[in-house]
Amino acid sequence: MEKHGRKGDISWISGSVVAAHGINDVEMGEIVEVGEEGLIGEVIRIKDEEFIVEIYENTSGLKPGEPVIASGKRLVAELGPGLLNNILDGIGRPLEAILKQKGPFITRGVKISTLPRNKKWHFKPTAMVGGLVEGGDIIGTTKETNMIDHKITVPPETNGKIVALEEGDFTVDDPIGKLETVSGIVPLRMMQEWPVRLPRPFQARLASDEPLVTGQRVIDVFFPISKGGTAAIPGGFGTGKTVMLHQLARWSNTQVVVYIGCGERGNEMCEVATDFPKLKDPRTGYPLMERTFLLANTSNMPVAAREASIYYGITVAEYYRDQGYDVSIMADSTSRWAEALREVSGRLEEMPVESGYPAYLPDRVAEFYERAGRVRTLGKPQRDGSVTVIGAVSPPGGDFNEPVTIHTLRFTGVFWALDADLAYSRHFPAIQWLKSYSLYANRLLSAWAQSFSDYSGQLQSWWKDFHQLFPELRDKALAVLNESSEIESIAKIIGENALPDDQRLILLTADTLKEGFLRQFAFDKVDSFCEPEKQFLLLKMMTDFHDQASVLIKNRVPIIKISSLPELQKMKRIKQDEGGIAAIRQLMEQCHKELRRIGEEYRVSSGV
Ligand SMILES: Nc1ncnc2c1ncn2[C@@H]1O[C@H](COP(=O)(O)OP(=O)(O)O)[C@@H](O)[C@H]1O
Ligand SMILES: [Mg+2]
Repeated sequence: MEKHGRKGDISWISGSVVAAHGINDVEMGEIVEVGEEGLIGEVIRIKDEEFIVEIYENTSGLKPGEPVIASGKRLVAELGPGLLNNILDGIGRPLEAILKQKGPFITRGVKISTLPRNKKWHFKPTAMVGGLVEGGDIIGTTKETNMIDHKITVPPETNGKIVALEEGDFTVDDPIGKLETVSGIVPLRMMQEWPVRLPRPFQARLASDEPLVTGQRVIDVFFPISKGGTAAIPGGFGTGKTVMLHQLARWSNTQVVVYIGCGERGNEMCEVATDFPKLKDPRTGYPLMERTFLLANTSNMPVAAREASIYYGITVAEYYRDQGYDVSIMADSTSRWAEALREVSGRLEEMPVESGYPAYLPDRVAEFYERAGRVRTLGKPQRDGSVTVIGAVSPPGGDFNEPVTIHTLRFTGVFWALDADLAYSRHFPAIQWLKSYSLYANRLLSAWAQSFSDYSGQLQSWWKDFHQLFPELRDKALAVLNESSEIESIAKIIGENALPDDQRLILLTADTLKEGFLRQFAFDKVDSFCEPEKQFLLLKMMTDFHDQASVLIKNRVPIIKISSLPELQKMKRIKQDEGGIAAIRQLMEQCHKELRRIGEEYRVSSGV
């Protein structure tokens, strides 16, 4: 029987949830068109004669008795060239095309396909006619944007013999060749479809031991994330979630970015749709959009679409992973998505568990983050790809003790805790070093350091030993920061001058680390991105300083001798110096020299 076009009727409506009857063989997850206007919805529950549909569009004006048409299809993503450099709504409709067709407000029942049907792409085959292929095999490429070669692959679970394959200019719909399968000859196209709620298959999961290099010091050195890892970045309003996600999108060493915006404020998504396209890829100068897939849930869209958009985004991320790319996906913010779950659950009169959220909230959160990972993809030629998932969380009132934050932390390996006090004092990124963690830290740091090169070609052996030293320096710096926070609370009571000198040195070093290392302005010309070697040298300079000054203090050199050194101020500012690594090296030398001089003055020699 033809699956499309089975017809039923609406029984009742509650916000974005509609109950209907009259289609006996309707399936869970099936897409239906609801009402005279054909609003798009998805079947989320079936009970006896009745089934419940979550509608992805505004339902006002809808009436019981209006028709419901089942499509026989799941919520699928169209995958193919044209995903990048495009802004889509929560269920994959291009905003620009909607604007052109329907004006500034998204009207309902709009059916515009994700991938443009009229645009032609130049397809270059890489597979041979006569060759046997199976799901995942690359059969050709097309240049999707200046930055990304789109690999055309055989869809998963398909195999056969190529009986035709042509070079030429084709739309995503045009046949580019033919495949002889057990069930006959089927056309090959540049586009494929995939149900968004189902993870795309791969050959094997690989260890996530390659660091994602972000150029953000507090992340790379203190709380690093691996390619294929997961991170949560919770923070109250204005603590810097969006700026951080933009920084990660621009600077991280992934080739493709998937950005899902669920607006916190009314017009924030309009900002995403206008701001994001202005960002430039710093390495090539091309618009960042040329390697970005952007989903924007505008505020005039109903909540249910936000629920779907998360799956849409991750499916697209997996699709580029399957081409062999490193992909990062950012969701800003997942709290808005969880609220959509809560709203729909409320409409279904399900039993709420915590703060009104349904009992399946943790399962849904887990399902999303579990789709991260580094994998060996299906198909030939052999290739690996990764999906790194970074989710912003915006807990109400900035209080992390709430269900979405708590459950997100259960399923993510890295926690970047944004802190309102830091943001208020304009310490950005406002990642609180005492509260944050990374489960991958030490392993990643040594792997990362092994990839360092020495720009000047000198001191080869010194760089070579870095990977052993790096985790140690990080621990040392974190220990100083930890201790200083305890000392600070004592100093508040008795005054800093009453502290013993070794404790005052801890405060001094911690201050240098906070100012000169952790703080990093996103909008600074030089410091927006900090290259790996520079990060390491800055850290080494500050921990060396601490070690050497400690020896002096132990030998009764008064702290004032050290705290009055002009080099201390320079250490805080050198990150922004145009002189880069050479300037840092020079300052390091100068610090050594000054501390040695003080040592000589007080007849201390050891270790300085
Ligand atoms: N890394 C940063 N460097 C400089 N300024 C920042 C940084 N992060 C945040 N800010 C400042 O804080 C403001 C709020 O940040 P935003 O990312 O919009 O917060 P959120 O998304 O958490 O509400 C920004 O407009 C910017 O002025
Ligand atoms: Mg924001």
